[in-house]
Amino acid sequence: MKEALESIRSVVRQQLESVKDLKELDNIRVKYLGKKGELTAILKQMGKLSAEDRPVIGQLANEVRSDLEHFLENTSEKIKSQLQDAKLAAETIDVTIPGKTAPMGYKHPLSIVLDEVKDIFLGMGFSVVTGPEVEKDYYNFEALNLPKDHPARDTQDTFYISDDIVLRTQTSSVQVRVMENQKPPIRVISPGRVYRSDALDATHSPLFHQVEGLVVDKGVTMADLKGTLETMVKRLYGEDAQIRLRPHHFPFTEPSAEVDVMCFHCHGEGCRLCKGEGWIELLGAGMVHPWVLQNCGIDPEVYSGFAFGVGLDRLAMRRFNIDDIRLLLDNDMRFLQQF
Ligand code: PHE
Repeated sequence: MKEALESIRSVVRQQLESVKDLKELDNIRVKYLGKKGELTAILKQMGKLSAEDRPVIGQLANEVRSDLEHFLENTSEKIKSQLQDAKLAAETIDVTIPGKTAPMGYKHPLSIVLDEVKDIFLGMGFSVVTGPEVEKDYYNFEALNLPKDHPARDTQDTFYISDDIVLRTQTSSVQVRVMENQKPPIRVISPGRVYRSDALDATHSPLFHQVEGLVVDKGVTMADLKGTLETMVKRLYGEDAQIRLRPHHFPFTEPSAEVDVMCFHCHGEGCRLCKGEGWIELLGAGMVHPWVLQNCGIDPEVYSGFAFGVGLDRLAMRRFNIDDIRLLLDNDMRFLQQF
């Protein structure tokens, strides 16, 4: 019996050293300490021992049992902590991994285009800022010259959380926040999700993405706006891309313009893609309205600025020939894996 106990002790030690998972560990526990376990069987026979052997063997048996329990416990802790480490290591985000080589091996088309836009503007000295999607009515509308009864609110009808809290309809709200907190010169782009109470179809979605840009400094003019947008468009679509500015109205810019890019397909001749126009509407822009500057504590007598807002979904759709905006939001792997 003594030998049996000694051998259990040494065999179990060896086995425990190579155990890899909790299931294997449990098998060992059952093999020795279970109801029909080898050690349990020996312990059951203690009563049959002679009075002489009992104290010695009994003590050894107890030792082996507590040894075994101790080992099982330690090994279980060790395995659990290894599992935890492995889990944490797998969850670690390596911010230096470029998106294209991310673990999944693909990148969302919106991210591809957004990264390009960010690169372009970072190269021109802009920084990237973000802000809340659930926004105060003040930042989304009022500070931008859209008081409660302004008719232009209808074109950006939103989801109201309460009278004063909305889902932002434009990332212009972030620009107001930046202007409140930062003195000029300001050069930022603000990408992000925006929401409008639009019905979902191939070209509209209640959730879409914008990148808005803002520059405020002394002596900023419409020429700077045009130059900046031209640079963006040429970098995105090639050196021969051309833009034109059409007069428009936005409550927060004056003057305002809609910016078109020459149709890539027909180069201005007019075709089906551009609906015979020769040009395709790309974004809204203008010189920041003096009242907006004033609302944000910037003296419009000293500073001027321009702003623009471009729909990221549209850029991505044009870029990859995607004909339905819903594909960008469905997260269907069959679609996403193509990028
Ligand atoms: N915020 C406007 C929109 O969502 C776009 C825009 C931004 C226009 C900045 C002018 C200046 O339609």
